[in-house]
Amino acid sequence: MVITKHILTLIVVAAFRVSGVESKACPPLGAVLPPPRQPGKEAVVIAAVQSLGALFEKITSRYNASAVSIGVQSIHEDTPLVDLHYTPPVRNKNGTANVTAETVYRIGSCTKIFTVLSLLQQSNIRWDEPVTTYLPELRHNQAQGTEIEAVRWDYVTIGSLASHLSGIGRDLAFDLANFPTFPAEKMGLPPLDKKSRANHCSGLGNTTVCTTQGNWRSDGALLRVLRVLTASYLDVLNNMPLRHPQYAPYTTPLYSNVGITLLGLVVEKATNQSLDQLLKEKIFFPAGMQETSLNEPPVPDQEGFIPAGDPTWFTKTGIFAS
Ligand SMILES: *[C@@H]1O[C@H](CO)[C@@H](O)[C@H](O)[C@H]1NC(C)=O
Ligand SMILES: *[C@@H]1O[C@H](CO)[C@@H](O)[C@H](O)[C@H]1NC(C)=O
Ligand SMILES: *[C@@H]1O[C@H](CO)[C@@H](O)[C@H](O)[C@H]1NC(C)=O
Ligand SMILES: *[C@@H]1O[C@H](CO)[C@@H](O)[C@H](O)[C@H]1NC(C)=O
Ligand SMILES: *[C@@H]1O[C@H](CO)[C@@H](O)[C@H](O)[C@H]1NC(C)=O
Repeated sequence: MVITKHILTLIVVAAFRVSGVESKACPPLGAVLPPPRQPGKEAVVIAAVQSLGALFEKITSRYNASAVSIGVQSIHEDTPLVDLHYTPPVRNKNGTANVTAETVYRIGSCTKIFTVLSLLQQSNIRWDEPVTTYLPELRHNQAQGTEIEAVRWDYVTIGSLASHLSGIGRDLAFDLANFPTFPAEKMGLPPLDKKSRANHCSGLGNTTVCTTQGNWRSDGALLRVLRVLTASYLDVLNNMPLRHPQYAPYTTPLYSNVGITLLGLVVEKATNQSLDQLLKEKIFFPAGMQETSLNEPPVPDQEGFIPAGDPTWFTKTGIFAS
């Protein structure tokens, strides 16, 4: 989960300004037209922007509790083409009362593109390398069993993680045994022992936050995190029920929060830098997004829009921030 302002601007700007990505540009088929240098002066663009503004007002005026910001800016111009914001009447008063281009939102999931963008900037990481090149701990934790029963980590490539083709399950959080209050026996299931309930981090609900806890390279915390991460898939050591792979790599797309998290750890390992620092230095700051980070936001947060009654603003996402 990244805290960001102006999600649309940021995606558009980031996609075009990051030099590591430009050098690998893959031109579209057909004629490559020169870029529009002054789109803000084109009548057709001006008309489209006006009509978008009217539509924005019509739609957002019905929103009681949702803030909306849309920004679009050409890299060739200083002024945004689109700069639309809506502040709803119902909101947590600990946040801003006036949503603007400077407002910080807390967003998740589409932030994965930044983790992948950061990977693309590391020319020394090859997409066809196995994840175990950077995280050999995964191999050390390799479970026994057929490929139906156990993840073959040596076949899980960096590219498969980046493209949601690794076959690694989506999350750790939605194992109901994760939640201390899950009434297994009342639901006719075998009693959950302490081990089954413990050790599954996710950060959601009352579960433990998965973190790398500072300098994980020297104090072994990474290993601990990976044990916890992989425990859900292949924990033979604790003789817990085996979590099977969902698919073999490159079989079918499978959206995976865990996969992108592993990718973030790969980038950290390859660069010896925290993902937060890398994203800031190489993507957010060059794009003018000074307030954007992986950090948990402060409370009260005069810069942030906090939705009323939303518990996720305060969630600690740990390594799942990627
Ligand atoms: C928005 O809030 C007003 C005033 O509290 C209420 O009358 C209306 O039903 C709400 N609309 C929606 C869509 O919740
Ligand atoms: C606002 O923040 C204060 C201090 O952290 C907290 O005690 C209070 O419950 C918050 N209010 C809301 C509506 O979340
Ligand atoms: C909100 O902020 C914008 C930009 O700073 C400013 O133009 C506008 O007057 C502010 N609106 C309110 C209601 O404070
Ligand atoms: C988290 O713990 C609180 C207090 O024990 C409890 O009320 C709540 O239901 C728990 N949430 C989940 C998702 O288990
Ligand atoms: C990684 O960074 C730390 C400090 O940030 C430094 O002490 C260490 O030598 C670096 N390791 C490598 C392999 O560059």
